[in-house]
Amino acid sequence: MNKAKRDSGRRILVVNGPNLNLLGRREPDQYGRTTLKEIEDELRSCADSRGAEIRFIQSNHEGELIDAIHKAIGWANAMIINAAGLTHSSVGLRDAVVAAALPTVEVHLSNIYRREEFRHHSLIAGVAAGQITGFGAFSYRLGIEAVLHLLDKKGL
Ligand code: DQA
Repeated sequence: MNKAKRDSGRRILVVNGPNLNLLGRREPDQYGRTTLKEIEDELRSCADSRGAEIRFIQSNHEGELIDAIHKAIGWANAMIINAAGLTHSSVGLRDAVVAAALPTVEVHLSNIYRREEFRHHSLIAGVAAGQITGFGAFSYRLGIEAVLHLLDKKGL
């Protein structure tokens, strides 16, 4: 890592929840054919070109996601989160987002408001700076633009 990057203060944690490890194969009509690795590679190269550091966590286990957010406290200064199914159910994950106190952008591949009613409510939305939903893998690209914008506004 070069010095400019180390000193940039732009450090982004990207959190992906249950079943997103299967992207590319999982319900492709709903979520597309892009794999999580491809999404992460694109985010990494976008972060690199914008002088930001980025780390990724994907887990199928709620507690692991919460632990990863706790561990990022003191390192990260922004977060992108697709909590997947936990979006609609996890008070614990929402509380971890609040505890981390980072500017956070919620992303979803599918448009959760065009799907079943139980997906219309996000426990993350009320504690995020904003939400991007429905653009497939491109939602993450929009998500990183949004967090970089938030960091810019903070002068980081
Ligand atoms: C999702 C939407 C959730 O409702 C669903 O449980 C997912 C993926 C999305 O990215 O569209 O696993 O978060």
